[in-house]
Amino acid sequence: MGFSVDVVDIENRKDSLLSFLDMISKYKLVITDRFHGAIFASITGTPCLALPTINHKIIESDFWFRKLKTKTFVCKNSDELEKRISFIPEPYEYNSSFVKAMYYHILFSVLENNTISVSNPVQDCIISRRTVRSWEDYTVNKILLYDIIKSGVYAPSGSNAQCVKFKIIQDKERIFSIGKECFRRNINLPPVVIMLGYDFGIEKTINFDHQNKTWELLKYQDIAAATQNMQLYCESIGLSCCWLSFFTNKRQEFLNSINIKDNNIEYLSGLAIGFSKSKSILETEHSGLSIERKNIENYIL
Ligand SMILES: Cc1cc2nc3c(=O)[nH]c(=O)nc-3n(C[C@H](O)[C@H](O)[C@H](O)COP(=O)(O)O)c2cc1C
Repeated sequence: MGFSVDVVDIENRKDSLLSFLDMISKYKLVITDRFHGAIFASITGTPCLALPTINHKIIESDFWFRKLKTKTFVCKNSDELEKRISFIPEPYEYNSSFVKAMYYHILFSVLENNTISVSNPVQDCIISRRTVRSWEDYTVNKILLYDIIKSGVYAPSGSNAQCVKFKIIQDKERIFSIGKECFRRNINLPPVVIMLGYDFGIEKTINFDHQNKTWELLKYQDIAAATQNMQLYCESIGLSCCWLSFFTNKRQEFLNSINIKDNNIEYLSGLAIGFSKSKSILETEHSGLSIERKNIENYIL
């Protein structure tokens, strides 16, 4: 059986590449075990599930696919692929000028500076995370939610009390009310909010001296540590978050009204989790201050 080979020469190579990318961009989903398959899907914003090759290429690129917020997800095996298939995001709206803007200029800057800085994946995650306030409608499946909560559970806890508890809220009405309460206006939140509470029924906390408030700060610090662990894990897998705080004087009353109450649990904050709207432009400032951080010296006393 014969086969044909497209001849790509120096004159037509750019057109060949762009028409190939156009073709890939028309698919709803690419499933591939070829590194280049994953690259082409990533460039065109086409949802892609990539299975490992016999070498390191796809596995080791997983971090970059996530960091660059592509729609390529590396699945370790066919079981994971099956789970992922249930929440394939919408593709980006692809056009070839985007390829030029997104990729060529990065390549040029690498060439110009003659260096690629080697970074630490955890710090990259810390630095690239941004609070998101504009969301796609896709929900996050249960397996991932459990992984996210696991990151919260593994946060440090004062006196090793381990009493941060997590309540998954997925019904639209309550999420709408939470948004309204936190933001004082009708706001679009993603389809999942995890409420974080401190469990005063746990043996250790029962012995905390509530009278003289010796342990008072632990609950806030433990909840914050768990929340940030969850935010960073989300960032590492391409999900986004918005930390939700409630007005102190009204918090309990409000939470009771939407039936977020459990024995011995004091709910302190929430975390909205979802897929950032692909075309959303992140805020450059919030509450009158720039989101950009200043030079590190400014923060050292
Ligand atoms: C304790 C705490 C409470 C927050 N509460 C809210 C909130 O209720 N609503 C909101 O939109 N963002 C909230 N945020 C997010 C901050 O506004 C955000 O972290 C800040 O603007 C810096 O932006 P960045 O997270 O993108 O770096 C909260 C953050 C923290 C740490």
